[in-house]
Amino acid sequence: MTLLPVPTTAIIVVAAGSGTRLGASEPKAFVGIDERTVLRHALDGVFAASPAQVIVVAPVGLEGDAETELRAAAGDRADLGRVVTGGGTRQQSVAAGLRALWGDVSTVLVHDAARALTPPAQIDAVASAVTASSGVIPALPVVNTLKRVAGESVVEAVDRAELVAAQTPQGFPRALLEAAYAAALESGAEYTDDAALFAAAGHPVAHIRGTAQAFKITTPADLDRARQLLTPRIVPAGQPMSRVGVGTDVHAYGGDGDLWLAGLHWPGEPALSGHSDGDAVAHAIVDALLGAAGLGDIGEHFGTSHPEYADAHAEVFLARTLEIVTDAGFTIGNVSVQFQSNRPRFSHRRAEAEAVLSDALGGASVSVSATTTDGLGFTGRGDGIAVTAIALLLTPS
Ligand code: CTP
Ligand code: MG
Repeated sequence: MTLLPVPTTAIIVVAAGSGTRLGASEPKAFVGIDERTVLRHALDGVFAASPAQVIVVAPVGLEGDAETELRAAAGDRADLGRVVTGGGTRQQSVAAGLRALWGDVSTVLVHDAARALTPPAQIDAVASAVTASSGVIPALPVVNTLKRVAGESVVEAVDRAELVAAQTPQGFPRALLEAAYAAALESGAEYTDDAALFAAAGHPVAHIRGTAQAFKITTPADLDRARQLLTPRIVPAGQPMSRVGVGTDVHAYGGDGDLWLAGLHWPGEPALSGHSDGDAVAHAIVDALLGAAGLGDIGEHFGTSHPEYADAHAEVFLARTLEIVTDAGFTIGNVSVQFQSNRPRFSHRRAEAEAVLSDALGGASVSVSATTTDGLGFTGRGDGIAVTAIALLLTPS
């Protein structure tokens, strides 16, 4: 049996937060980005870096789930990992992690699980830059113009050359970090991050360049960004391409209020039931566009886990879908959609519906038709509406 060297670096992955701003039904670290959770992605990065002791700080009661993620990410290096229970603040969670360090560890990295897509090279770069007397953080230059404000008023511009945006992992010499944490515990002071706590104890902190991928997942928009980054690039570089997609949707009558269909309000017509306004025409178009782009489906981007779309009308769904397919490098060729139902009588409002849907899709060509089914099936009985949409996406030639 080969004895592997005991690592002298430890990485504390703090994952004990509740994720209030993300607003998911489970704590942030356990939210899926794709088929893997935030924590799993973070740990995949950690285990792809140089071998280190890995301490996962989990929310109370979720230690077992954290252990499962740890084992999955660790593969045959499960011996390097362990899970401890976190505290009420991030600082307390880090302190819990520090108590689990092995004796041989001399460099400690503290990493947010929420920075799930941090490249392993960033973790290694931080570990190598730590010295016996100084800490190090990865940071990015600030790109936005910053202003200092007081209430409604802008007081002054802030020189962004003097500012950077801090990321993790943040690395420190173990002995000094432990002493700094002990001092913070004694004084009861809470710091914004480990570098601030370390600096407050009088030690220098250097910065190295971070990466855009190490952004922190804080809000639902950040989670979308992470999902987008993990989506395989399907547009081949420099090659024009066209792709078609199909979308269908069926809604039963039975919602509250009046009908919303094809982006229009139909006073006096019975409403369709469903998440949002039940506009099955808009929903089928969304699925056709996402399908053509190979970017999942309506449930993934707009489902019940996105309460912000609960009462949204067609324009909101379509504008966001346009953004998604445009970000992936496509323009819309055209969209053709047909719905089956006995009512409403559609032809006199066709032009109006096409204009609304086209506007929401940035001026793309949208054609809508309606048909009946000769009294057959659920649409013939008047139970609901069925829609089929086809979309063509193009890449620039
Ligand atoms: N964290 C922790 N223990 C806490 C609070 C936060 O381990 N008591 C961790 C989070 O799990 C996260 C990292 O610290 O990986 C950065 O915190 P943040 O992004 O603020 O996450 P949450 O506190 O979970 O989110 P929110 O502030 O929106 O509730
Ligand atoms: Mg927090």
